[in-house]
Amino acid sequence: MTPAHGSAEPVLQAIGAGRVYGRANAAVPALLDADLAFHRGEVCALRGRSGSGKTTLLNLLGLLDRPTSGRIVFLGKDTSGYSDRRLALTRRGALGYVLQDAGLIENMTAVDNVCLPGFYAGLSARRAREIALRALGDVGLADKAERRVGALSGGERMRVGLARALSLEPQLIIADEPTASLDAETAHAVIDRLARAAAGGACVIAASHDPIVLERATRTVALAHGRVVTPEPVA
Ligand SMILES: Nc1ncnc2c1ncn2[C@@H]1O[C@H](COP(=O)(O)OP(=O)(O)OP(=O)(O)O)[C@@H](O)[C@H]1O
Ligand SMILES: [Mg+2]
Repeated sequence: MTPAHGSAEPVLQAIGAGRVYGRANAAVPALLDADLAFHRGEVCALRGRSGSGKTTLLNLLGLLDRPTSGRIVFLGKDTSGYSDRRLALTRRGALGYVLQDAGLIENMTAVDNVCLPGFYAGLSARRAREIALRALGDVGLADKAERRVGALSGGERMRVGLARALSLEPQLIIADEPTASLDAETAHAVIDRLARAAAGGACVIAASHDPIVLERATRTVALAHGRVVTPEPVA
């Protein structure tokens, strides 16, 4: 994918980005000086041992947390100066998150959960539901749409979270171990859906060690002790 997209403006850049947790004696430098650029159409797999900084980096790239040094540039704009509100609006409008703790509302049905981004985006209830049902169909859950999320299996919940994250076709998709604890068939369904989003022009960044994800990645970035160890071309 890189050659086709190499000349285009990156969707996202980390420029000297670092994150230190805590202060003084208790300071933990979890990410150091990351320089990375991400483009449309990519599925980037982020690898590294436990504690190497993958989730820390994903949180910065996904505009969920702010770097303590350096900056994150999204769609050509430096987000350092963004207010919390502007960050929240940017997340809501352009990003999709596939996280382990999918943040689903247990007492609502699958389809109502998937409708939420549509409601936030101001769609009519009817249109939001139409989109949500299609998104659930895309992850093989059409028959579970009216089931309460609390009564779904772990893999089914993961796919509801995926449907919700992708339903409005976000430009940037952040996934943290999206296939962890899934059987191979479900893992394939998840990566197929992510790869389809990338083929449609999204940029997907996924922390994962799963060979099923790695074989579909268009690129790999490796972290060790908070540093990017894969040489990366700077856009
Ligand atoms: N909120 C926090 N406060 C202090 N230290 C933290 C915090 N979150 C993470 N860390 C530390 O930062 C380092 C990187 O953590 P991170 O969660 O980014 O690793 P990871 O690569 O995602 O690991 P895993 O594969 O286990 O999910 C670790 O040493 C971790 O203990
Ligand atoms: Mg992690």
